[in-house]
Amino acid sequence: MSEKTVDTLVIGGGPGGYVAAIRLGQLGIKTLVVDKDRAFGGVCLNWGCIPSKSLIQMAGAYDKTQNLYPKMGVLVDSVSVDWPKTQQWKNTIIQTLTKGISGLLKGNGVEQILGTATLTSPYSAEIVTKSEKHTVKFKNAIIATGSTPRSIPGFDFDHESVLDSTDLLELMEIPKSLVLIGGGVIGLELGTVYAKLGAKLTVIEVMDQLLPNIVSKDVSDVVHKKLKKKGTDIHLKAKAKSWKKVGNQVEVTFECKGKEHKVQADFVSVAVGRRANTDSFGAEKAGIVIEKGFIKVDDQLRTSQKHIYAIGDVVGQPMLAHKASKEGEIAAENIHGESYSTDDIQAIPSIIFTDPEIATVGLIEDQVIKDKTPYKVGKFPYASSGRARSTGETDGFVKVIAEKESEIVLGVEMVGGHASDLIAEAGLAIEMTAELDDLSLTVHPHPTLGELIMEAAKVAKGEPIHTLKK
Ligand code: NAI
Repeated sequence: MSEKTVDTLVIGGGPGGYVAAIRLGQLGIKTLVVDKDRAFGGVCLNWGCIPSKSLIQMAGAYDKTQNLYPKMGVLVDSVSVDWPKTQQWKNTIIQTLTKGISGLLKGNGVEQILGTATLTSPYSAEIVTKSEKHTVKFKNAIIATGSTPRSIPGFDFDHESVLDSTDLLELMEIPKSLVLIGGGVIGLELGTVYAKLGAKLTVIEVMDQLLPNIVSKDVSDVVHKKLKKKGTDIHLKAKAKSWKKVGNQVEVTFECKGKEHKVQADFVSVAVGRRANTDSFGAEKAGIVIEKGFIKVDDQLRTSQKHIYAIGDVVGQPMLAHKASKEGEIAAENIHGESYSTDDIQAIPSIIFTDPEIATVGLIEDQVIKDKTPYKVGKFPYASSGRARSTGETDGFVKVIAEKESEIVLGVEMVGGHASDLIAEAGLAIEMTAELDDLSLTVHPHPTLGELIMEAAKVAKGEPIHTLKK
């Protein structure tokens, strides 16, 4: 048992916690960061964003080699998958990045411990590692404990037949068939991987569109259509009821349009959202208030104990790595004596790495309609872009939404190739309260996909160049 005294204790070393710790180190604040996982980086780096994107990239390459490159005249006699090699490649990426984070923490003078930290009072904690115990006294703390997949009644994760997102990333073999409960971000990203690698996919989604409340229906329709083309069965307004083992298959019973259906597959995966990890760090002992499943914080990210901050998934939606990182920086600056506020953030982009990719920032059109806000919209199709034609990725569009009178950009929705890289310009536009003219009059280089956002802004203004005025 050792005793430590630090200025700031950071519990959780994901994109929220490790970024906060780095910033605290840079500000000269004596900091200790603790994570109970196998390495720093959190779910995002170890079990989420990075491994999934590695598999998505690999499956995309396999798919394009079969279905796109031959059209370009690139003929490959045979293409196959070495799955253990894919897994090894993915794991090497994770190891490289987690080591990098550890190096950054060290380089910024941050002490790091892999172990479980629990608050024992408002100013102390206990840390248990594989081999030892520490007690820690602190002046400030940041809680960045993230979130965990939630399930639905009757579908408890057994990690053999009923899988969560981590299991889906770690499969030893490519499944021949897969039932996905939840047509949301995780389900569709990872489902697409296995669909491209040949698995028969069935999606059971309770709402009336894929990615409900996240993107407008015309956006999700593009992905819906593409998944159907790959042979995926999609059941909307459908409710999973139960499952049982039939031989070595899983049989899922679900209800759709008043009828009961059954589908068999190698596995059933449940991705119906995540719940904040509020119960594992000693909130009660420290007197931290939890409200509606999240830690209650003010706009400066202070909890009910003013010297303890909370950031990332554990304080609320959107559960996104980059939102957690931004909050980590805000909390670190505030511990240093600034008074930064989350109200200063105008826009948090959101990306879904489906095929094609989806990216949004600001308001989505369906929301603007619901709010009855007077608006203008411009939609420009990928198929009208020379660059998109040359990449062979012509599905989708870019949509710019602006307030009717002022023409201030309210939101941008994109579905199409490389949308994940294109959205940053739209984020900057919203952050700077840009108007349609700022996007439409800025010279964008040709031939690039970046032109799509300029063209969509021109459409919204009623001044299209590369499409006809409606
Ligand atoms: P989600 O909220 O994206 O989707 C859950 C889906 O399940 C929704 O479509 C919902 O209508 C549906 N659903 C809920 N209950 C159901 C039921 N009983 N039967 C059938 N469908 C049901 O949640 P998901 O996919 O689990 O992702 C969790 C979080 O992880 C997201 O909030 C997202 O922010 C984050 N994430 C972000 C990624 C990114 O930024 N690219 C990648 C992966 C996850």
